Amino acid sequence: MARFTLPRDLYHGKGSLETLKTLKGKRAMVCVGGGSMKRFGFLDRAVEYLKEAGMEVELFEGIESDPSVETVMRGAEAMQKFQPDWIVAMGGGSPIDAAKAMWIKYEYPETTFEDMCKVFGLPTLRTKAHFCAIPSTSGTATEVTAFSIITDYEKGIKYPIADFEITPDVAIVDPDLAETMPKKLVAHTGMDALTHAIEAYVSTANCDYTDPLALHAIKMIQRDLIGSYAGDMEKRDNMHNAQCLAGMAFSNALLGIVHSMAHKTGAAFADCGAHIIHGAANAMYLPKVIAFNAKDETAAKRYAEIADFMGLGGNTTEEKIQKLIEKVRSMNDELNIPHCIKHYGADSYPTEEGFVPEKVFLERVHDIAVNAIADACTGSNPRQPSVEEMEKLLKCCYYDTEVDF
Ligand SMILES: NC(=O)c1ccc[n+]([C@@H]2O[C@H](COP(=O)([O-])OP(=O)(O)OC[C@H]3O[C@@H](n4cnc5c(N)ncnc54)[C@H](O)[C@@H]3O)[C@@H](O)[C@H]2O)c1
Ligand SMILES: [Zn+2]
Repeated sequence: MARFTLPRDLYHGKGSLETLKTLKGKRAMVCVGGGSMKRFGFLDRAVEYLKEAGMEVELFEGIESDPSVETVMRGAEAMQKFQPDWIVAMGGGSPIDAAKAMWIKYEYPETTFEDMCKVFGLPTLRTKAHFCAIPSTSGTATEVTAFSIITDYEKGIKYPIADFEITPDVAIVDPDLAETMPKKLVAHTGMDALTHAIEAYVSTANCDYTDPLALHAIKMIQRDLIGSYAGDMEKRDNMHNAQCLAGMAFSNALLGIVHSMAHKTGAAFADCGAHIIHGAANAMYLPKVIAFNAKDETAAKRYAEIADFMGLGGNTTEEKIQKLIEKVRSMNDELNIPHCIKHYGADSYPTEEGFVPEKVFLERVHDIAVNAIADACTGSNPRQPSVEEMEKLLKCCYYDTEVDF
């Protein structure tokens, strides 16, 4: 038996933010990030709509990118005081993910972060509040997924919380919110979405319900991401839907080791001065992982199907997979994303000397490999790597060398 879960209601299209007027409840806690929602007027509008719905509103502001366990605990405390029956999370993946974890702690104050990280082990939520998610970036699709990614900065590790309990009740996918994204964010979140769709399609948990969502998302991203990056707002709007479709696919089909590696490298070099941004990490690692996974016969067939669906050409399975790898790499070039960690600058752009020194990388690669294998996304990857293989794969992602094992 398999399960397929999505939010009960999904409102989409320009102006759909207004749907907030129809939520029924007494108190709404609105969770937002560092300020972009306020700056562009979306926060004020959301608060107004909720007040029109007859709700008392309180804000929890300033959730940082790659949110920490501490922020989650602080937010849960604020919820404990205010006792909301709606949690409305607005912004990028970071504030929405943080709000999901706060929700768990709010409903079950005794829960520790370790408890939350037990995959598909959460108790029943919605005894205190329902959850509405409104994305402003076009990538994570956390508005429809069963995941939340929280960073433990003491360990320098991102932990996925995974359970259908945290799939939001209501998602509002209003492309107006995505139109203010700076180019770099469009690039990173767009490649995150492409990775979601491709990993979901080859995941061992793929099924007839997730495949069409993944394939259509891939087609839309191929058609619209580069144009969206160049400033075409119609394509930007389409990308907001495409990433959401990819999310519906991967929330139910799960992901693979591109994400395991992105989770475990993201904050691993924070002491060197930067993060490897989630979407950029995925964009760099995806071609390497395709080559690695393609040694599995079923995965190879599925990558070739993707290549066919994208119309990339090639006669044999091998040729098609090669075309797919080349396509991802050429998209990275067009989006100004480097091909490997060695050339990943602190500002995320390609550079001769990246911010992760070779020596530091080599010192840490073994531990990162062990952690990546333990990541919740590894289980559904079509080929299970050994620690040695994961280390080799990570090195290919550092030096941009060919994967021939
Ligand atoms: N829950 C999931 O299923 C899932 C999936 C993939 C990634 N993630 C996680 O999500 C996080 C990344 O989320 P993200 O890529 O959406 O970025 P983000 O939420 O970290 O936001 C990045 C920056 O963009 C700004 N921003 C957001 N929307 C904007 C807009 N419309 N206009 C201008 N600026 C805007 C924010 O203020 C912030 O400074 C990572 O922690 C990643 O691990 C979660
Ligand atoms: Zn992702």
